[in-house]
This record gives sequence, C-alpha cells and structure tokens, in this order.
Amino acid sequence: MPVHTITQQEQDALLKAAQDASERAYAPFSKFFVGAAILTASGQVFTGCNVENSSYGLTNCAERTAIFTAVAADADSGLLEIRAVACVNRDGVPCAPCGACRQVIYEFGPDCVVIYRNKEGKITQTPIAELLPEGFRLR
Ligand code: THU
Repeated sequence: MPVHTITQQEQDALLKAAQDASERAYAPFSKFFVGAAILTASGQVFTGCNVENSSYGLTNCAERTAIFTAVAADADSGLLEIRAVACVNRDGVPCAPCGACRQVIYEFGPDCVVIYRNKEGKITQTPIAELLPEGFRLR
C-alpha cells in the first residue's frame, strides 16, 4: 500500500485537535504536556493526551491514548486503519513520537503519515515506515 497523503486542511484540523487535547494532559511530573489526534480511514478523528502516574512507568503517551480510545470506540467498524497521526507538545517544543508509540501506530497504520514538530522546529509529515523501519507485525 502506498503511503497515505493528507491535505493541508486535514493536517491543520489534526494539529488543532491535538493542541486542544494537550490542554487536558495529566503531566504533573514531567510537565511535558502532549496531545495527539488520529485520522481514521472512515474520516473520524480521535484525540488523546498523556496521562502520567506517581508510579512513573505506568505513564501512557498521548498517541497511545488516542489509538486505544479509537479501538474502544469501534472506529472503522472494528478494523481501525489510521491514515494520519498528529502529535504536539502544548508549549510548541519539538515532539516526535516515542519508540513505543511508533510501534503501536504501525500496528494500525503501517501506511500512515505522522505529523509533528521536528528537532529543527518545523512541522513535518513523515511516513511511519520511515520513523520505524521494519515495524513488527504478526498479521
Ligand atoms: N510523551 C508522549 O505523550 N508522547 C510521546 O511520544 C513522547 C512522550 C509523554 C510521556 C510523558 O508523560 C512525557 O511526555 C515526558 O516523557
């Protein structure tokens, strides 16, 4: 499957949804407030934020919150296919998805594009297959 493409309008809407979600992040420990938004094959948007815990290792990242929310909501009638994921830090600093989230994104969107602010401070669209070469799949 070729990498999905999204329009400028879709990108702007996803970034806005991710930014809104970042306002709901629970990050009292790191103070790194993250929001994510995913666009599914059926055109639905789901959002998530990071949720930290006093037992640090239990923290859930924003991207995974959004994806798990979509699965729980039966997005795409049980066959979730992610076309795009946007990930933002509330305060506008660079925020590429962590390795664990890349693997979870790959499970549901091996052809999707990931939108984030890179180390140079630029919003970029990068295929997940580039961020996670040879992602693991059992199916
Ligand atoms: N975080 C995310 O939510 N997504 C990422 O891809 C990178 C890291 C969160 C986890 C933790 O709550 C905080 O950012 C600092 O690592």
